[in-house]
Amino acid sequence: MNEQLFDTTRSILQQLELPHLTERGIKLFVKRDDLIHTEVSGNKWRKLKYNLLQVEQGNYAGLFTFGGAYSNHLLATASAANKAGVPVIGFVRGEELNENSNATLKRCSDLGMKLIFLSREEYGMRNDKQYIDELKSEYTNYYFVPEGGGNYLGMVGCQEIWKEIDLHMDDVFVAQGTTTTSCGLLLGKSKNTTLHVIPALKGFDGYAEMFIKLKWFLFQDELASELLEGVRIHSEYHFGGYGKYTDELLAFIQEIYKEHQLPLDPIYTAKAFYGMLQELEDVSFDNNTILFVHTGGIQVCEEIEKKNNIKLFTN
Ligand SMILES: Cc1ncc(COP(=O)(O)O)c(C=O)c1O
Repeated sequence: MNEQLFDTTRSILQQLELPHLTERGIKLFVKRDDLIHTEVSGNKWRKLKYNLLQVEQGNYAGLFTFGGAYSNHLLATASAANKAGVPVIGFVRGEELNENSNATLKRCSDLGMKLIFLSREEYGMRNDKQYIDELKSEYTNYYFVPEGGGNYLGMVGCQEIWKEIDLHMDDVFVAQGTTTTSCGLLLGKSKNTTLHVIPALKGFDGYAEMFIKLKWFLFQDELASELLEGVRIHSEYHFGGYGKYTDELLAFIQEIYKEHQLPLDPIYTAKAFYGMLQELEDVSFDNNTILFVHTGGIQVCEEIEKKNNIKLFTN
């Protein structure tokens, strides 16, 4: 497999001019991982890269993974596996669904992903070792990628974002779901960079979840705790919880696009970007260089635009 199946050089570092920040000496950059690919965008290629290499190097017959009906991860996996020529099975939450239920599932199916629809109860077992072992014996020699690409190799891929950034960043802001991207960024950052994380989920304990993942890498509680000292979690920008958004958030997306040609999605990146701008009001950020990592997710916007009868990205 070509290690560079998707071209990450498309992910430019875009500097944004926000006069109220520039006045305070704040420089703001966006790492445009959303530009890597329309379907395998943002953190998706970062998370899948080493998993797909593992399928090839381990001589696996294919891979299986999990996702909800509108899952960015499911679509990205279908698209990347298609390009890599890897057979792929997607287990989908909701036995009432089928491959024509929405555009995401249809596209996954068109890309060759075999979709298997599970009851919510069975889907709830997606992280149980025994359940996964059963699937592995049913689908012989298939490699397992957890929901959201949230495994060790996913973190290794996300760590690589730093290789493409040659400026010192005082602070980095990123949206959080499974914590894979934020843990990767944390493992790769320099000691004097602070990582700011904005969970898309309500009531999510980001520190506890990151601690669990970091231990896969570091094995020791003390090392994981020490690393987490470089993290600030801002939990109050979930806009009602996962998958929820408000008119205010949609208006914010429109405004940011109009002023900076930066598309944001209402599920993850707009919440994180909004939260970042609020946090940057604090004088402690004066004269700092800030990085926002754009983790993609833009493809959901079409459906959200239709549902709300609006256009998010117009000049
Ligand atoms: C667009 C987007 N941004 C951010 C995230 C959160 O990343 P992570 O699950 O690695 O914390 C996700 C979920 O994977 C996502 O789809």
